Parts: sequence; structure tokens; C-alpha cells
Amino acid sequence: MKVRVLGSAAGGGFPQWNCNCRNCDGLRRGSVRARARTQSSIAASGDGENWVLFNASPDILQQLRETPELQPARSLRDTAIRAIVLIDAQIDHTTGLLMLREHRQPHVLWCTAPVREDLSTGNPLFGVLGHYCGLDLHEIPLQGGFSIPELPGIGFAALPISSNAPPYSPRRDRPQPGDNIGVTLNCADSGRRLFYAPGLGEMTPDVWAAMQAADCVLVDGTLWTDDEMIRLGASGKTSRSMGHLPQSGPGGMLEWLEQLPATTRKILIHINNTNPILDEDSPERAELDARGVEVAWDGMVIEL
Ligand code: MLT
Ligand code: MN
Ligand code: ZN
Repeated sequence: MKVRVLGSAAGGGFPQWNCNCRNCDGLRRGSVRARARTQSSIAASGDGENWVLFNASPDILQQLRETPELQPARSLRDTAIRAIVLIDAQIDHTTGLLMLREHRQPHVLWCTAPVREDLSTGNPLFGVLGHYCGLDLHEIPLQGGFSIPELPGIGFAALPISSNAPPYSPRRDRPQPGDNIGVTLNCADSGRRLFYAPGLGEMTPDVWAAMQAADCVLVDGTLWTDDEMIRLGASGKTSRSMGHLPQSGPGGMLEWLEQLPATTRKILIHINNTNPILDEDSPERAELDARGVEVAWDGMVIEL
């Protein structure tokens, strides 16, 4: 199984268009050593030919241009994307669907029932797409595994994640199971597993079990500290209230990752532009290095 990180940043990307935080300003001026990053998405393939897109980022067109494997050009209009899985209904994970509207047939799209509801009402993307290529919708079960017939060689299992519903959802700040999911991808050939959860607000027994069972965890790296956005004056919200476990501090992501076996590959993804780990010369990044925790980057390939 091959997993390719298409976009490793959180909503807004890095640098964010209107942001002049130390990271965004420093990247533009060249005074901070860091890589630009597009918004949150990965693609996976069991056979190197057929790919599933996890989340459709607003930056999908740039991501596709940078990933020739996803555009094999076998006929006049063609793509290697055989199916799309949405792990939530947030803007940074869904609005790229509008950019894919020229598809020759309905997109095979997998999401949970609450995500389908939000994308049919509060943000009526699914209705809009009905006027273009349309969607072939499949419901992701919250228990047990599922397979995507178009995707040979990979098995999938979703589990509800405690995070948050989008601001336009009637369930904002009262999320229900299925508003956010984490997904385990099982490689049929190697038997190896990847656990993917770019939005993870709280460690629950099920999530922890999935992380312990995985050979690689690709998990929420949004913010370093819980009050990062408040201290910067960028937002009034804590990391946890937005549905993202911060890395540092008691009960933070690093404490959890430390308890995983040394053989588990640990990678942070969905990094917010304010996060000091984006600065490759920062003490926070050095701490990750010392702990064996990687920071995903656009174009990163994970083979399992
Ligand atoms: C989030 O992950 O909390 C959201 O994606 C933020 C956003 O896109 O505005
Ligand atoms: Mn997000
Ligand atoms: Zn910024």
C-alpha cells in the first residue's frame, strides 16, 4: 500500500493568505526555514493504479498538478481517483469537490450519515454537484470494516472520533458519532495498517486501540499548545474546543505517541500555520525529532 500526502496543512494552508504570524510572514520573507503546505488531504493505493482520495481540499487542483500518478492520461478525460472518502464535513476537507465537477461520471463518494446531512443542508455541496457530475454516495459504517470495490488491495475500518462538527452544522459544539471519523487502512498484501485521523480532539479507548494496532499513525498535528490561537490573538478558541488535541502539555498528543511501540511510525498531519513545529529550526521541532515524531509534508510517500 502506498499513501501519498497531498496536503499536510490545516484549514488556511501555510502560509495562510491573510496571516502575518511569525511562521507565515517568515516563510514569505525567507527568514523562517519551512516548507509551504497545502490543505489537508491524502491519497492511497493498493496497486499503484487505482487511488482513493481522503478529503477533497480546496487546493486539490494544485495537488493534482504536483502528483502525476493521479493523472495517468489514458484517455481524453481521465483520472486515477476511483473513490473519495470524507472524514468530516469541514471546508478544508470538502470544497475541493467543486473543483472536480468535470468528472465524466458521478464520483464514488463515501461519508457518514451526519456528514452527508451537513453537505446537503448547511453547506449544500452535494446538491450543487448534482448539477454537474453528480455523486454515487455510499454510507461509511461506524462499526466493522468496509471495502471500496474500486480500490483493490486495501480494507478500511472507520471509527467515530471526538472532534467537532463544522461551524455551519446544527451539531457544532455538540458533535454526534459520525461527524468526525478516523480510518484504519489495511494493506491486503503486507497486512500492515495505517491509522489516519487529521482531527482528533480527545483520546477515547477505541481510538487508542486503533493507534496501538497500527504500524503507522498519521494523526492530528494542528496546534502545539491548547491556547496557541488565543495567545496569538488569532482566535478566541482553544485547540480542544475546535476538536484538535494539542501536541504539548498534560494529556497532549506527544504523551500518547510516547506510549506507542518504538516500531510504530508516528507522523503529525493537518498542521496549522501558527504551529512552531513548521519552523525546522524551532525547539519544538527539535523535540519532535528527539521523540521520533515526524511532520508530514506535501509529497511525502508512506509505503506500508
Ligand atoms: C478544522 O479542522 O478545525 C477546520 O478545518 C478549520 C477550518 O477549515 O476553518
Ligand atoms: Mn481542518
Ligand atoms: Zn500564520
